[in-house]
Amino acid sequence: MASVHTSTDAQAASAHINPVDLYRHSISESLAPITGKPASEIFERLAWTQTFEKGDLGLPVPALRIQSKKPGELATEFAEKFPESDLVGRPVVNGTFLQFYFKPESLTKLVIPSILKNKSRFGTNDKLGLKDGSDASSKKTIIVEFSSPNIAKPFHAGHLRSTIIGGFLANLYEAAGWKVLRINYLGDWGRQYGLLANAFEMYGSEEKLERDPIGHLFDIYVEINKVSKPEEDEIKELKEELKQAEEHKKVTKDLEKRIADLEAKSVNEKARQYFKKLENGDKDALATWTRFRDLSIERYNRTYARLNIHFDIYSGESQVEKSRMERAVEQLEASGLSENSKGAVIVDLTKSKDKNTKKLGKALVKKTDGSSLYLTRDIGEAVKRYELYHFDKMLYVISSQQDMHVAQLFKILELMGNNEVSEKCQHVNFGMVQGMSTRRGTVKFLDDILRDVGEKMHEVMKMNEKKYEQVSDPEQTADTLGITAVMVQDMKGKRINDYEFSLERMTSFEGDTGPYLQYAHARLCSITRKAGLTPQDLNSADLSLLTETHAINLVRALSSWPDVVQNTLKTLEPTTVLTYLFKMTHMLSSSYDVLQVVGSEPEVKKARMALYEAARQVLNNGMKLLGLNPVERM
Ligand code: ARG
Repeated sequence: MASVHTSTDAQAASAHINPVDLYRHSISESLAPITGKPASEIFERLAWTQTFEKGDLGLPVPALRIQSKKPGELATEFAEKFPESDLVGRPVVNGTFLQFYFKPESLTKLVIPSILKNKSRFGTNDKLGLKDGSDASSKKTIIVEFSSPNIAKPFHAGHLRSTIIGGFLANLYEAAGWKVLRINYLGDWGRQYGLLANAFEMYGSEEKLERDPIGHLFDIYVEINKVSKPEEDEIKELKEELKQAEEHKKVTKDLEKRIADLEAKSVNEKARQYFKKLENGDKDALATWTRFRDLSIERYNRTYARLNIHFDIYSGESQVEKSRMERAVEQLEASGLSENSKGAVIVDLTKSKDKNTKKLGKALVKKTDGSSLYLTRDIGEAVKRYELYHFDKMLYVISSQQDMHVAQLFKILELMGNNEVSEKCQHVNFGMVQGMSTRRGTVKFLDDILRDVGEKMHEVMKMNEKKYEQVSDPEQTADTLGITAVMVQDMKGKRINDYEFSLERMTSFEGDTGPYLQYAHARLCSITRKAGLTPQDLNSADLSLLTETHAINLVRALSSWPDVVQNTLKTLEPTTVLTYLFKMTHMLSSSYDVLQVVGSEPEVKKARMALYEAARQVLNNGMKLLGLNPVERM
């Protein structure tokens, strides 16, 4: 196998970078002969403890499933027999738990140089994303589908959360060595886009479209809805009247004619016709549509860039070929999964014997008028993506409001015989945001939100006049801090929790907020500037001088960063990272008085600076993983 030929140097440079694995390895090798269990099994069972008092790694003895004695007795016996080494001392027995404490001297010397050497790579692990049994050239591919706004419609909180969480997940998988494809699945198809095209004919301006496509398309869409809404209301009313009349067996000819006339000249009917042209591939109609779409994408890209996000692929509902959807419907019909219901085609999942499938209700895959649907497009798109990219995993980052839709999608794919696709799909859902509106009223696009938060941040910064004067580019800094504020607020809780969009709270420097996190990073940068040491100074520092509890605990926390990243791959929760980062910033802020740099003995100064530089690096790595831009001054 090719991996045999990879040099150990290359392996050392590519991966791992997880010093704690050395401890796991040593502990499990020592315990294997004592417990009679394979080292690999023990390795897997060693878990991080809740607090430093309980040690660094813990082993629940019952998990080893040894029957001969009671777990408590076994724990005592194992602890007594455990050979102390340079890495770990004899474990402490706590009930049926063994608590292992890393020896500070060796830990410090392993962890700090590893961070200073690996820099932004500390915490990443290229090996996790390799296909089984393959060499470094075959990475696993993951598709992360996220953001997915609708053209000419507001960018709502659901899109905001999808953008933030999806951007983070894409970074996370990249850090684990996967090949990541970021897909934006635009809402860009349906009769409403026929309406939009008509709106442009009526109210559109080339100049405005070029300048602000997203805003302009939104505005004209609102405009045409002002016409179409009353028309539709009138038609609805007349239809109601017609129903009544029929029930009372009255003459209805007149009414019927009025309705038909109204319908014929309504903007909605025009929209329907236009959309039909689009669906039939009419060149002119498509060209107009493509322009709207391209201009919008260009604008989206600029805004996403502010959040450090890019997309590899702009897909969208419009990109799913009609033939593909027809094939999907045929396949469903052929396999007997679907049924015709008054001219429409549905998949009745309530008939399933499986009680979880039963709950998914009836899914409509084709409307009476033959037109396709959101769900059908998603089915076609999933199959298409699999054909094109052969992904090993695909994440759909979509609000929990669409739980039912996504569950139906996955189930139908599976039932259609596409289990190869469906089993690789995962829905990453999230809760709602309450009260997201801007100071100027409704949210149109992401820019409106970011501008607002940036302005508010600027006001907050101005309140501290002295500091404000020292910031060289306050507007830019306010902008960055504002973006951090929004993102941190969004990622702070578990994804599924709802939260309240609060400008006041998120822009505060107090509490676990974005600005506070940035402040912690900037403060470490400022210590570095004041210390005026070179990288050589730090690399040659005598780390055995770091003896204070504050210093040792910081190193213990730093050592766990690679494990935090790995654990996040399981939780897929940004809060796993944020909780860690905030814990570290709290430890840091209580260390500054105890572990001073400026004014200390030259050797002590070097050692402490090496520690702070390592902390800054990890904070920086964590912030970047979340998609934040760490600032150096503020
Ligand atoms: N555009 C949709 C909306 O705004 C979200 C699309 C989610 N992705 C999907 N594959 N259905 O609700």
